[in-house]
Amino acid sequence: MQKINHLGVAVASLEEALPHYRDVLGMSYQGTEEVPEQRVRVAFLQIGESKIELLEPTSADSPIAKFLEKNGSGIHHIAYEVDDIAETLAGLEQKGVRLIDRLPRQGAHGAKIAFIHPKSTGGILTEICEVDH
Ligand code: CO
Repeated sequence: MQKINHLGVAVASLEEALPHYRDVLGMSYQGTEEVPEQRVRVAFLQIGESKIELLEPTSADSPIAKFLEKNGSGIHHIAYEVDDIAETLAGLEQKGVRLIDRLPRQGAHGAKIAFIHPKSTGGILTEICEVDH
């Protein structure tokens, strides 16, 4: 694990959430991207060497829509950056960690991402990601 790449925050509306982070907290807005596979729109805000990832569902069957229904808006996941996601996943599996994604999938900004089950992380949905710098 290299560093915290981002915190994922579930929101009902990017339009409503964005001004708080950008204008009140003064974070640098990096743009918005749609990730169709996860049925979300994602806005990134830079904070130091990490980011806040605002996640808005694009359909009622989006995992984020289900999260919002259950919990309301709030922190959804923590994402750790790794050098080699395939190697990390293999190592975690070897240690008996329960994975949601055994193989990396495509995330926003061309990153390769995979999720670890909260049952194996003390209740925190955990993402690992490999990004091109
Ligand atoms: Co994320």
